[in-house]
Amino acid sequence: MAKKYRVGVIGCGRIASLLEEDPLREKPATHAGAYAAFPRTTITSACDIDRWRLAKFRDKWRVPSDRCYRDYREMLAREEMDIVSIATWTESHCGIALAAAKNPHVKGIYLEKPITASLAEADRIIAACKKRGIKLLVGHERRFDSNFSRVKEIVDKKELGALKTIFAQALSLPPPKLGRKKYTGGTLLHDGTHLLDLVLYFGGPAGWVMGFDKRRHGKANIETAAGGIIMLRNGVTVFVEGGGERNYFKFDLDLQFENGRIVIGNGGIHAFRNFTSRHYTGFHELASVPFKNPRRRENSFTGCVRELVRAIETGHEPVSSGAEARDALELILAVYRSADNDGRKVHFPRRAK
Ligand SMILES: NC(=O)c1ccc[n+]([C@@H]2O[C@H](COP(=O)([O-])OP(=O)(O)OC[C@H]3O[C@@H](n4cnc5c(N)ncnc54)[C@H](O)[C@@H]3O)[C@@H](O)[C@H]2O)c1
Repeated sequence: MAKKYRVGVIGCGRIASLLEEDPLREKPATHAGAYAAFPRTTITSACDIDRWRLAKFRDKWRVPSDRCYRDYREMLAREEMDIVSIATWTESHCGIALAAAKNPHVKGIYLEKPITASLAEADRIIAACKKRGIKLLVGHERRFDSNFSRVKEIVDKKELGALKTIFAQALSLPPPKLGRKKYTGGTLLHDGTHLLDLVLYFGGPAGWVMGFDKRRHGKANIETAAGGIIMLRNGVTVFVEGGGERNYFKFDLDLQFENGRIVIGNGGIHAFRNFTSRHYTGFHELASVPFKNPRRRENSFTGCVRELVRAIETGHEPVSSGAEARDALELILAVYRSADNDGRKVHFPRRAK
């Protein structure tokens, strides 16, 4: 019989469990939901500093009371587990991941995005996992959604010609006046990490970035909007924006090819192809076409768990690895750095001083 992986979940909040209660979201919508749906994983222990959330998690996912903890160090010292999920606040990711990597039984870590808010911390996590042969997957879960995978295939096979330009936006009402020291960034970091990860996934590595920001509450606080122009090494141009003080959430990427266009995001997926114009002789123009996806539908959270198990069993790096999440973080921090320097270009790989 195939091995069943024992899972310990640290942080029992929204993305770990509570979003499962949202009637509108596709299910599973959380780490715990994915472990419950995936036949080869079982949640054996849980931890949260919040007593109420821990009890709720225990009851929902039937975790034995004596295997529920308020201190992750105690959980990691006592429990034998194959996989650790880390779904706590971003500023705690590094300390918990480093502690998890010391548990001798752990083979895989499913760490929520952003990997951390600092490159030095990201490097420490990646190095600690590498040293122990632990597979690290960061929760940029859209990569496992079959529509996003199909678009990646269209890009790679040049089915609409070469990719030329990407417009990428994660717009929302950012939280008011939070200190940059603690939170590092606003929407561009916390939602934009998904966006920049997808830019790199579809488009390839960055060449340079020129950033802007709007800091209505002052430079010491997170942005109300930030973004920039990114030139990818293959010449694809990217326009990116996060935040933007909108009373709605808009998350999408508009990929423009030689012969067509695909808009993919939270509003669904829309495809366009070039046809002979009916308005201008000798011109072509874009018209809407159905988006066909022959791939089997994969839930993105179950996809994360399936991929982590595959990486553990094959020894390969998972898709959405720690190194890929670090690349997205590096790009976001470069936008902020450029914005702090009046939009001066930041080059990749970083030039030696
Ligand atoms: N992948 C996604 O789409 C997505 C969506 C939402 C949040 N997130 C990420 O998930 C993480 C958690 O966000 P959330 O919205 O679920 O927050 P949340 O506040 O709902 O849940 C976090 C939980 O972690 C617990 N916690 C904090 N520090 C802890 C510690 N040291 N030990 C044990 N428990 C601790 C808190 O008590 C809380 O219950 C963040 O990094 C966030 O960026 C990802």
